[in-house]
Amino acid sequence: MSSLIYLDNGATSFPKPEVVYTAMDTFYRQYGVNPGRSGFDLCLEAGSLVDRTRKLLRDFFGGTDPNRLVFGYNSTDALNLAIFGLVNPGDHVVTTHLEHNSSLRPLWALEHESGVKVDWVDFDAQGWVDPQELIDRITPGTRAVVMNHGSNVIGTVQDVAPIGRVCREQGVHLILDVSQTAGVVPVDLETLGADVICFTGHKSLMGPMGIGGMYVREGVEIRHTRAGGTGVKSAQRHHLDEYPYRMEYGTPNLPGIAGLHAGVHWVLEQGMAKLHEHEMRLWTSLRDGLREVPGVILYCAEDVPGRERISVLSFNVEGLEAADTGTMLDVDHNIACRTGLHCTPMVHEHLGTDQIHGAVRFGIGPFNTQAHIDAAIAAVAEIASLRAVRS
Ligand SMILES: Cc1ncc(COP(=O)(O)O)c(C=O)c1O
Repeated sequence: MSSLIYLDNGATSFPKPEVVYTAMDTFYRQYGVNPGRSGFDLCLEAGSLVDRTRKLLRDFFGGTDPNRLVFGYNSTDALNLAIFGLVNPGDHVVTTHLEHNSSLRPLWALEHESGVKVDWVDFDAQGWVDPQELIDRITPGTRAVVMNHGSNVIGTVQDVAPIGRVCREQGVHLILDVSQTAGVVPVDLETLGADVICFTGHKSLMGPMGIGGMYVREGVEIRHTRAGGTGVKSAQRHHLDEYPYRMEYGTPNLPGIAGLHAGVHWVLEQGMAKLHEHEMRLWTSLRDGLREVPGVILYCAEDVPGRERISVLSFNVEGLEAADTGTMLDVDHNIACRTGLHCTPMVHEHLGTDQIHGAVRFGIGPFNTQAHIDAAIAAVAEIASLRAVRS
């Protein structure tokens, strides 16, 4: 059988650039010690890696203070810390139906356990939230807007800047989930008007799994919802208030930081715009090819002038469960995709695909080629034609 065609980059990018593997291996072999805890040379070297990566990501997100770039496991971790640490019982929060469970579930918990009122804004037929509709939901009692920058199901990138402007004017915290966009679409704290940017390292930033974090704007003080070792001020009984320690707990994921550092450098060297253009060229080819296949239903895949997208595409083959299409792509064609609800149940409820156990999603990454796309279109066409013969 031909070698695997990996089209599940929306879940995680794979493979990684060679420099990422090298950086992780080098870290553990040459200076794999706990940073910031002692003064010996290796410890300082490990600490320097952390500091340099904070600065790199501070610049990447257009922040001002590297200490406000805090590391955690992933964006789920960061979103939990930001949401539970900024929203108080009885507050009002505005969010959207495009949210991933990483913010949907914390918000649901606050709504059901802490009397937080959550307003859910829907997206239109093409997959975009109308910024004015969201802004209209902001009231004097609104504490935060929590929103997904780029959809992991339909790929639409939301027009966040007008929402951010109003949030800044009205003192509302904008907590932005950039899991899918960071690394392919510019994410600038000031342009977008965000207070907290939550990122994960293992998607388009090209780092490994288990490393992510957030950038917290100066003046925004997130309440501690955890406490633990920081390696400094150890006699102090309450957790430190100063960033980055305020939001970091225990030994950080140093091999992850080493890999992320290399991944972000690789993205910057390639050029984000160039990577995005490559992926979107393949996305358009995939979309156009699948459009021609009888029995294929595409979701929110129309071009809308002036609107931005990232390279995930969801579809179903008429009469087939998404999981069955996925199994045939895997077993018969050696193509990896992602099927189901993609941790975003409200998107599928809106599309009606929750009734058929979700959709099939292709996620295109920097190492995909036109040959991969051609093979994927041919494979879906074969599956659709077999289905047509059987029915
Ligand atoms: C939009 C979005 N938000 C959040 C996440 C969660 O990312 P992680 O699992 O790395 O925390 C994902 C991952 O698929 C995502 O696509």
